[in-house]
Amino acid sequence: MHHISQDTDHKRLYLRTFGCQMNEYDSQRMAQVLQSEYSLTLCPEEADLILINTCSIREKAENKVYSLVGRIKKFKEQRPDLVIGIGGCVAQQEGKRLLRRMPYVDLVFGPQAIYRLPSMLREIKMGKRPILSIETRDDFHIPLITSPLPEPNPVRTFVTIMQGCDNYCTYCIVPYVRGREVSRPPGDILAEIRAVIRQGVKEVTLLGQNVNSYGKKLGACPSFSGLLRMVAQVPGLRRLRFTTSHPRDLSRDVMECFRDLDNLCEHLHLPVQSGSTRILRRMNRHYTRDQYLKKIEELKSICPDICLTTDLIVGFPGETDADFEETLSLLRSVEFDQIFAFKYSPRPFTVAATWSDEYVPEGLKAERLTRVLELQREIGLRRYKAMENQVKEVLVEGPSKKNAEELMGRTRGNHIVNFLAPRDLIGKFVDVKISKACYHSLRGELSSPVS
Ligand code: SAH
Ligand code: SF4
Ligand code: F3S
Repeated sequence: MHHISQDTDHKRLYLRTFGCQMNEYDSQRMAQVLQSEYSLTLCPEEADLILINTCSIREKAENKVYSLVGRIKKFKEQRPDLVIGIGGCVAQQEGKRLLRRMPYVDLVFGPQAIYRLPSMLREIKMGKRPILSIETRDDFHIPLITSPLPEPNPVRTFVTIMQGCDNYCTYCIVPYVRGREVSRPPGDILAEIRAVIRQGVKEVTLLGQNVNSYGKKLGACPSFSGLLRMVAQVPGLRRLRFTTSHPRDLSRDVMECFRDLDNLCEHLHLPVQSGSTRILRRMNRHYTRDQYLKKIEELKSICPDICLTTDLIVGFPGETDADFEETLSLLRSVEFDQIFAFKYSPRPFTVAATWSDEYVPEGLKAERLTRVLELQREIGLRRYKAMENQVKEVLVEGPSKKNAEELMGRTRGNHIVNFLAPRDLIGKFVDVKISKACYHSLRGELSSPVS
């Protein structure tokens, strides 16, 4: 096994992350606030501290956490001074129940408590355990951290611009576990971006559950398109992305940024959730099928090269065959490069979870999921095949996941490309000729290094 750091003065931290990019960002911050005492390790067996950053978006995600924590129990039996902490959305959701269910856990902490990790760990060391820290404040502000990122030579990274969500889609637990929507001041965002660029980062993705409503509560703050225009000017920022956009709030100003800003990459993740207006209304999404399609049309007219991805849910309570057919037909008309499709999963606190008499049977949900994925497979492959023989600018991220001999990187459209090339190209922009389209990725051959 390989260690990220061999520093022997440091204690070892095994950090495992589930869930969305917000959680990846939060995990990075956990490593940063603990940097002076802990180095990351990939082996839980040798860790002094195990932190699990959890997700509760669907029941399956939540269950993964329980099974992992169950497996970790034996390390604690072997080494009683091992400290185990559970953070993230399951921690926020379950709180005390987690401690009752798993008495070997020392610490349960919500996303706002990350910055108190060093002091909480000191208390645990002094015998004060377990600690529960899940209180949330609506006026909480994400602190500015400009210390080194945990990963050596990072190529791309996330920067959170807002946290929480005020949308209350009827299926979604996020507003209950992440709290109210709060935007970060632009000065902090810019300072954090400058700091990561100094460390070699070439590509930044701005994060929020609903980035288009950035600044709405901050008063004098720029709007999201204003923020994009400010961030795009940071020297050394070669690529800029953002996620996630809510279709209702995607404005013409933001669409025009794709045309005007050279470093803003031509990719937009625009979760549609359903192709049926009736279901969208029940989901509390505040847009119709037609309004979604019109936004896509407008965006394609402003930025013809835009690459689109989406999220959708099958088997939402009350979804009929006719509603589901509308989701299929929407996929045919938009032609996404990739979709993330999920079977509806009832979640605690949410409105839709109270509609149990309208639940779609599990078997039918599974059948619908298979059908959307089959349709998308055709569409995606056709879109990817159209890129064969084209030369694309690729930012090289690291070794390929499937074959360590190869490298992987992304196009501006966010397509993954695998190709054979020397390792010293990691972090560089290269021209790659696409030789073969696969499902979800491309194979290519190095043309020439650009920069
Ligand atoms: N803020 C983002 C999405 C966050 S959650 C947005 O507004 O689009 C990521 C995705 O998980 C959602 O887009 C949705 O497709 C899916 N999801 C959320 N709650 C779900 C649930 N209860 N069951 C199934 N999928 C769900
Ligand atoms: Fe959840 Fe809706 Fe907020 Fe996205 S916009 S996080 S789906 S409540
Ligand atoms: Fe999961 Fe929490 Fe993100 S529920 S999707 S980790 S905001």
